Amino acid sequence: MQTSITESTFGHMPDGRPVTEYTLTNVNGMIVKILNLGGVITEIHVPDRDGKLADVNCSFDDVASYLGDSQYFGALIGRYGNRIANASFTLDGQQYQLDANNGANHLHGGLEGFHRRLWTAETFVTPKSAGLILSYLSADGEQGYPGNLETTVIYELRADNELRIAFHAITDQATPVNLTNHAYFNLAAGGDILGHELTIHADHYTPIDDVQIPLGDLPPVAGTPFDFRSAQAIGARIDADDEQIRNGFGYDHNFVLAKKAEGALELAARVREPVSGRVLEVWTQEPGIQFYSGNFLGDSVKGKGRIYGHRSAFCLEPQHFPDSPNQPAFPSTILRPGEEYTTVMAYKFTTG
Ligand code: GLA
Repeated sequence: MQTSITESTFGHMPDGRPVTEYTLTNVNGMIVKILNLGGVITEIHVPDRDGKLADVNCSFDDVASYLGDSQYFGALIGRYGNRIANASFTLDGQQYQLDANNGANHLHGGLEGFHRRLWTAETFVTPKSAGLILSYLSADGEQGYPGNLETTVIYELRADNELRIAFHAITDQATPVNLTNHAYFNLAAGGDILGHELTIHADHYTPIDDVQIPLGDLPPVAGTPFDFRSAQAIGARIDADDEQIRNGFGYDHNFVLAKKAEGALELAARVREPVSGRVLEVWTQEPGIQFYSGNFLGDSVKGKGRIYGHRSAFCLEPQHFPDSPNQPAFPSTILRPGEEYTTVMAYKFTTG
């Protein structure tokens, strides 16, 4: 098998611009498909322990679904991953009002966030990888954010069954930035994800209120349903009689990663599906990771001839902590002119 990248037309934007789907293949025959719309990952075909490929990524069949209530399927998230309380923050003495698209709060960059934008795309092939360079200029004032933000995201499918995602941004005014990818996985390619076994390298997490805004403290996971320091079935404690589980409708929480070195690219989480043996590792340079157990999926969510029912997929979204612009004790998410925002994450597939 040779490393390759090909393209085809997936559909069209309402204004007629074509949406292109790029197909990346590596030397093992692993296949990843990505759109220039929202940088959406539409397919990820990886082997089970017998070498049988299946598509472990959830996606929709048409452009309209991605421009509707897409649940952020597969997409690049920006300018700010997860929530900002009351869709508002104060920076350098000035208050900014963002698009309120999640009750009173701002979620995943607003209704017209990066996930719904058509990105400029360039492709590349090296002896060991195939990739896509996506660029998007987020204009000053977009969704309420200050500054023109020039964003580049590089997707690279490597020979070792790793999909690497490198983010870069620069700005001309101080602005919060917190970019990630929001792929949904089901390593069995069907059914629910309650039997998938999850490990998260986190000793602490950020509890939330009943509209999923962090309370600000970082309590230990020990003795709670949030202790994934050793592998646990996702379903084992998902309905526990626990206020945090109730506030998240299951798992919808940011975990504080136990980093060996700040800013290093390290293993954050591992998921194993015991029947197929497929394993997903999520690597990141970020200080946190959102674990979302697909609580808002339901029978009306359909794609690829399937219904994406309640808890039929999970997301592990590397990120800075939610609501950081309003939480001075959290690591800063502010990017200033002259600085460069860079972060690398990876989805790596093995079997076990
Ligand atoms: C994130 C949020 C969830 C939900 C999903 C998408 O993980 O934390 O509350 O909005 O995205 O539906």
